[in-house]
Amino acid sequence: MITCSYHRVVTKLSIAAAAVDWYSIGARDLPWRRPGVSPWGVLVSEIMLQQTQVSRVEPVWTAWCSRWPTPASLAAEPVGEAIRAWGRLGYPRRAVRLHSCATASVQRHGGRVPESLTELLALPGVGTYTARAVAVFAFRQRHPVVDTNVRRVVARAVTGSPAAGPATTGADLAGVEQLLPADPESAAATSIALMELGALLCTARAPRCPECPLSGSCAWRLAGSPAPTPAAATPDAPAANARGQRRSQRYLGTDRQVRGLLLAVLREATDPVPTARLDLVWPDAEQRARTLASLVADGLAHQVGTGHYALPA
Ligand code: ADE
Repeated sequence: MITCSYHRVVTKLSIAAAAVDWYSIGARDLPWRRPGVSPWGVLVSEIMLQQTQVSRVEPVWTAWCSRWPTPASLAAEPVGEAIRAWGRLGYPRRAVRLHSCATASVQRHGGRVPESLTELLALPGVGTYTARAVAVFAFRQRHPVVDTNVRRVVARAVTGSPAAGPATTGADLAGVEQLLPADPESAAATSIALMELGALLCTARAPRCPECPLSGSCAWRLAGSPAPTPAAATPDAPAANARGQRRSQRYLGTDRQVRGLLLAVLREATDPVPTARLDLVWPDAEQRARTLASLVADGLAHQVGTGHYALPA
């Protein structure tokens, strides 16, 4: 019994050590991970990276952080400027949320991004994952940070399942917490290493086990890498091509597409835009009216006088 639990502890600690070792040579050099990046830079990166690929985020993050290096510099500008700078990253309400985070950091925290999980969670629109990511990656604290990639690494390496099951925040956090070394800096290094390992090697559809530092002790590998059951495969690993195709088919003609077209016109304009100009972007008047109203309701557009629209002031 003692031997068995000792073995489990050693395995978990060696997962952390092996992941951190691999990270030093295998990780991507991403601008928000470089030394000297401020907590604000980390918060901006985490909000931009939600549902958005790294390659699309990189140029926007770089421009954003050189224009607004502090929360105060962003808070001093109208929210419309944040929406304009967001460009084509998608889900533009995130720009409004970042502007609100900047304002809250100025009003409540003397212009700094707060350090504690509780204060981070109280920032507008900051949820469990983002609060933990900032506390760990920016402030080097010891908290589990669990995204889909980390859940999959733990499911395979520890539990022996081929894919992460449905998200269960409490259990997922507890499972990852057990893998973290006691000292905060090593725990923070482990958290980013597990996330990167899941993004680059322990991928949903094509895991690169021969290159993986955990393959020697990975419970899934040791069980013969069983394939996921079809039900388990669906959320985590739909076929890559089908997924891309379905995504674009699902986007075309949707209110989300029309919102994007309308917002692009407002972003590119320096003066309020007459409705007649917006009418040109989409033929269906009812859908246009509905989506324009939704942009206004979301704080992404603003009616100026009669028949003109602009980004919010
Ligand atoms: N580095 C830190 N957080 C990240 C994230 N959410 N995605 C990719 N790389 C990251």
